[in-house]
Amino acid sequence: MSDHTKLAHLSRDEQVLQGAVNPPIHRASTILFERAEDLYSNKTKRSYGIQGMSVHDSLREAFCTLEQAHSVVLAPSGLAACTMPLLAICSAGDHVLLSNNIYGPTRKFCQNQLTKFNIEIGFFDPESTNDIAHDIKPNTKAIFMESPGSLTMELTDIPAIVAIAKERNIWTLVDNTWAAGWFLKPITMGVDFSIQAASKYPCGHSDVLMGMIATGSKAADRVLQKFNADSGNFVSPDDAWLVLRGLRTMGARLERHQTSALKVANWLSKRTEVAKVLHPALPEHPNHDLWQRDFTGSSGLFSFILRPIPETQVLKLLNALKYFGLGFSWGGYESLAIHCDPQLTRTAPKWPDQGTIIRLSIGLEDPDDLIADLSQAFKTQTQS
Ligand SMILES: Cc1ncc(COP(=O)(O)O)c(C=O)c1O
Repeated sequence: MSDHTKLAHLSRDEQVLQGAVNPPIHRASTILFERAEDLYSNKTKRSYGIQGMSVHDSLREAFCTLEQAHSVVLAPSGLAACTMPLLAICSAGDHVLLSNNIYGPTRKFCQNQLTKFNIEIGFFDPESTNDIAHDIKPNTKAIFMESPGSLTMELTDIPAIVAIAKERNIWTLVDNTWAAGWFLKPITMGVDFSIQAASKYPCGHSDVLMGMIATGSKAADRVLQKFNADSGNFVSPDDAWLVLRGLRTMGARLERHQTSALKVANWLSKRTEVAKVLHPALPEHPNHDLWQRDFTGSSGLFSFILRPIPETQVLKLLNALKYFGLGFSWGGYESLAIHCDPQLTRTAPKWPDQGTIIRLSIGLEDPDDLIADLSQAFKTQTQS
């Protein structure tokens, strides 16, 4: 059965739905017990609202099917979904290796918070699998990847890194937000934790913050569930309902995001103002082979590098855009643009290109309108 069919039909427990198509928004903090004997027996499915109600179960089941996972834990934001498994698996004295292209706030969390607990941080080049064996230390506990990186779009050879990690009993984590669990299935590659900011494509409408962590094994599930139960993270049933609703149409949206983004990317690659387009589905992308091997498609997020111009000209170009909003989140129905250079904090290796990177999130508008918008914005470069 394809993911389209699965997402249309899964999580439809008739006892809960009672003939309706979508689940009710089930709100609870207190869960009542019929017998005092059961209060501390741990035999009941739920003993407190924080464990989630039927709408949470439905959403977890939907993500679990999509990611082909053992289990799923929901998180209050995509960032929380990145930080929770790291906190769950690491102890004082451990070392964590982070891909140099990971989402900036995840990087900051590791640098500012994990280090307070005497957890050491190191970075590896996302494109170089050979180097990672040298970066691993005897105390390396986890390797965190993001493929492609959501600003610079390099891909990592996930199966190769998983093989190296498994030999050494190191946990692997992948931020799978770009592929939305649709175009890449990290769990099937042996990854322990596949993470998504559900705020992006699963929600699809730019109005919910949520994250999800899919686990690849009983061991990964155990360590994450324990941390989750001890730390009190929770997702509101209203938000769970909205994300489940979004997931039902995500496949259809992603197909359009994909074709529109490719049309815009191909158009940009022919513009004289553009030095390079960073889109893994374009044959000229340096990691295109990996993309062809591991991914079944591409989403609506990609970047391009402008030929070097003064910053004032870059800002003028962005300000001239009419259909592209200027904003940091992405994966919604509306197109967005940002310039990324201030966020580039890479260390090994340093980012080699000179021009400003512009990142686009291509929404559901007509791609010809988006191209016309970019075309008129580029004219600001010839006007002083
Ligand atoms: C790749 C990636 N991971 C995680 C996140 C964090 O998601 P959230 O905004 O839900 O915290 C983002 C947000 O932009 C992201 O781009």
